[in-house]
Amino acid sequence: MGILTKILRPVFRNAARPSGPVGRVFLAMMNRGHTPLSKWGLARLETGPDFHVLDIGCGGGKNIARLLERIPLGKVFGLDISPTSVKASVSLNRKAVLDGRADIRQGGSDGIPWPDGSFDAVTAFETVYFWPDWPASFAEVRRVLKQGGTFLICNSSTRTLSQGPSAGFWTEVVDLKDPPSEEICEALDEAGFGNIFTEAREGGGMVLRGVAAGWFQKERHGR
Ligand SMILES: C[S@@+](CC[C@H](N)C(=O)[O-])C[C@H]1O[C@@H](n2cnc3c(N)ncnc32)[C@H](O)[C@@H]1O
Repeated sequence: MGILTKILRPVFRNAARPSGPVGRVFLAMMNRGHTPLSKWGLARLETGPDFHVLDIGCGGGKNIARLLERIPLGKVFGLDISPTSVKASVSLNRKAVLDGRADIRQGGSDGIPWPDGSFDAVTAFETVYFWPDWPASFAEVRRVLKQGGTFLICNSSTRTLSQGPSAGFWTEVVDLKDPPSEEICEALDEAGFGNIFTEAREGGGMVLRGVAAGWFQKERHGR
């Protein structure tokens, strides 16, 4: 590991797990910087007005706010492994939390603290590449989704991050996995998702959508 990587790593770890004042700066920057990708990804999620939606890796909470606008009669839940992220999400969505329209908790994707079949949809923006154990986490997402519910993953990371002039920066300095979408699709399939769909975004980014298995007709698109 080069000297520059050694210096930058502790700072950029705040993208993976924001902590303290530097973590708060990262969260504010991510709320702004991820906006174009987040809006594009959210447009690929169907919601009903009374949906219950969980956003995992909710970070600074901007996507919770966007979801609350989309489901005026529903409820939005947030989960993040970082207490700094949870505080930021609660602070940004304070009114909804006080009104009982948002419930934001600390915890990891491999131990989701809600009962089976709680949600119509689960979202994960710019976070699955930090999750340590996809099989355990995706099985948890499957468990908390209602039958036929949707899991939407939205990443700016594609294999392109490990190529080109900034090769190695994100994978080494930020310490994220840089998986091809096929690898995520396989993990979703094994966890019991069907109708798996992937779509690339012009200019970078992708969404993956899977439907919680049971009654669906098992077919794939865009693979
Ligand atoms: C790059 S930030 C993205 C935040 C937000 N979703 C956005 O798009 O701006 C990644 C977030 O995922 C959280 N995170 C990382 N691993 C996690 C896990 N296994 N379970 C839950 N949250 C996790 C981090 O603490 C951090 O807040």
